[in-house]
Amino acid sequence: MAALRAFFPCVRGLLRPRPGCAALRPFASGAEFKYIITEKKGKAHNVGLIQLNRPKALNALCTDLVTELNEALRAFDDDPAVGAIVLTGGEKVFAAGADIKELQSLTFQDCYSTRFLSCWDHLSQVKKPVIAAVNGYAFGGGCELAMMCDIIYAGEKAQFAQPEILLGTIPGVGGTQRLTRAVGKSLAMEMVLTGYRISAQDAKQAGLVSKIFPVETLLEEAIQCAEKIASNSKLIAAMAKEAVNAAFEMTLTEGNKLEKKLFYSTFATEDQKEGMAAFVEKRKASFKDQ
Ligand code: HXC
Repeated sequence: MAALRAFFPCVRGLLRPRPGCAALRPFASGAEFKYIITEKKGKAHNVGLIQLNRPKALNALCTDLVTELNEALRAFDDDPAVGAIVLTGGEKVFAAGADIKELQSLTFQDCYSTRFLSCWDHLSQVKKPVIAAVNGYAFGGGCELAMMCDIIYAGEKAQFAQPEILLGTIPGVGGTQRLTRAVGKSLAMEMVLTGYRISAQDAKQAGLVSKIFPVETLLEEAIQCAEKIASNSKLIAAMAKEAVNAAFEMTLTEGNKLEKKLFYSTFATEDQKEGMAAFVEKRKASFKDQ
């Protein structure tokens, strides 16, 4: 039961809090969080910003933090005013990985019976586009979290690594899979087998990161990109995201088939009519997400 209480966030609300942990409270949009800060950004307040905020532990991703992150993601995903989400950390660290002090005493039985890592999957299921703005370390679960996002922007001093091998374990939330798809087998193997850190520049060259910015402007650039995304139809953006993500799950034939179905589906929307009418009439489109 102790292990359940400690590591099964899904039943967290039914259990008493652990000493030193955030008091249980009903999370809701706008609720105060302990380990993250949320805010709406952009001129039209249509960008949901989530900042990991556990600086003393270099944003180590303890279960309570991941639970809060999931709650904030859910709230922004359900908020009709929000068109894109930015996930960031601090200037020196994005996240130094899962909380090693929490993992240290886990047993196989704890992991298996509580499906310990299942709460980490939520980010990859968000419908709206998510941009990771990574400054500093993105190690282990931190790198995996960034890779669950749709776009990674990096600060000039960012570093990416999967150092689990140095702790006697391996990545558990996509590090061996998403990294390999992003950077190819040789570099992924080198990183996973040695714990080797790559710089922002190497990450960009390898295709893990789409753009690099100075540390001070990174977040603003990520928010601007999110604003651009949010100014389009949210409905069509979700379909575009679904189609690109299918490339990681399907064969080329299956993926192309899904893409065509989604393309046809856009013609059932008002936003496609509006977008094309606006082009022909030489005016700015006004999408209604319908
Ligand atoms: C818990 C951590 C932590 C972590 C840092 N801290 N990383 N606590 N879990 N992942 C804590 C330290 O214990 C320390 O707390 C404080 O943060 C500052 O860390 P330092 O090590 O003193 O800082 P520094 O010398 O600047 O080194 C930074 C660092 C190093 C290189 C990032 O902290 C580091 O190597 N961290 C571990 C990185 C890692 O192995 N990540 C993978 C985790 S496993 P105190 O209280 O001592 O001051 C993982 C599995 C994912 O992610 C799969 C399942 C989800």
